[in-house]
Amino acid sequence: MKAPGEIQAVIDAAYARYRTLEAGKNADYIPALADVDPHLFGIALVTADGRVYTAGDVKTEVSIQSISKVFTMAQVIQEQGLDSIATRIGVDATGMRFNSLVAVEAVRGVVGAGEPEMNALVNPGAISATSMVSGGSADEIWAKIIGFHSDCAGRALTVLEDVYRSESASNHRNQAIGALMLAYGYVKSDWPRAVDLYTRQCSIGVNTGDLAMMAATLAFAGRNPASAMQVLDHAKVPGVLAVMATAGLYDDSGKWLYYTGLPAKSGVCGGIIAVSPGKFGIAVVSPPLDEAGNSVRAQRAITDISNALGGNPYAVGPA
Ligand code: DON
Repeated sequence: MKAPGEIQAVIDAAYARYRTLEAGKNADYIPALADVDPHLFGIALVTADGRVYTAGDVKTEVSIQSISKVFTMAQVIQEQGLDSIATRIGVDATGMRFNSLVAVEAVRGVVGAGEPEMNALVNPGAISATSMVSGGSADEIWAKIIGFHSDCAGRALTVLEDVYRSESASNHRNQAIGALMLAYGYVKSDWPRAVDLYTRQCSIGVNTGDLAMMAATLAFAGRNPASAMQVLDHAKVPGVLAVMATAGLYDDSGKWLYYTGLPAKSGVCGGIIAVSPGKFGIAVVSPPLDEAGNSVRAQRAITDISNALGGNPYAVGPA
C-alpha cells in the first residue's frame, strides 16, 4: 500500500473529481429514499491497521438497504457453513432484476432436486437467507442480525424507523416474493416474519465510515481491523466475496468486475462497499443511481481510487 499521505491524496482527488457530477436519480419506490439529499457524498477507506481515510460527509446515516444482504448471508454461512447458502438458495446470478418474481418462477422446483439457481444478494434469496438465521423468536433472530452488522461496523447500529415504516407500508412486492419463496421451499415457514426481518435489516442506519469498516472486515479475513474482533471465520470469507463478485452490482456485476476486479455490493440507498482482499475496504455513499440501480458517483470514485492504489486482486505486476 502507498504511504498515508498518498492514500489521502487519491481519495481527495476522487472526491473533487466527482463532487459536482450530476447524473442519476434517487430510488423512489421506497418513499423515504426519495427524500434523502442527492448531494450527500462521502468516501471512506480502511486499511489493515484500522486507519480510516475519508473525504466528504461520512457521518450522515442512510439506510443500508441491500448491502445488508451480504452480512446476513455471511452470518448464515458463519452459523451453518458454506454449503447452507449454496444448496438452499444458490450462488449464481439470476440475470434478472433484484426484485424479480420471474426469477423465482424460472428456478422453481429445483430446490432439493439439484443446485438452486438463485443468490442471497437479490431479494428472493435474501429473504430466504434471513429466514435461515436461527433463533426461537423474531426478537432473538433480530438481535443476532443487528449484532452481526454492528460487530462488522465496530459500533452499535440501530434501525432508521422512518425508513422501516416507509418500506413496510410499500413492500407488497417483497411480500409476494416471500409467499412464493415459501411455496417453492426456499423459506420453510412464517414468510411474513422473514419479510419483516428483511425489511428491518434493510433499514439499519449506517454512515459511510461504518460501511467502509464492514467492507474492511471482509477485506481482512473476517476480522474487524479497528476492534480486532474476529466476526467471521477466515475460511468463510472467500465464499462471501465470490457471491459479491458474481451478483453485487445487479446486472452490471460483470462490467464492474471487468474494470475493478473488486467484490462489491450496492444498495438503493446509493451506497457501495468494495473489498480489496488484504489491502483495503472502501465505501462510498451518494444517492443518485444509474439505470442498473447503482450509485453513479460511488462507482466512479471507487474505480479510480482502487485502480490508483493497486486494489484489483487480478492485477499483478509484470514478471
Ligand atoms: O427490498 C428492497 O427493495 C430494498 N429494501 C433493498 C433493495 C436494494 O437495495 C437492491 N437490492 N439488491
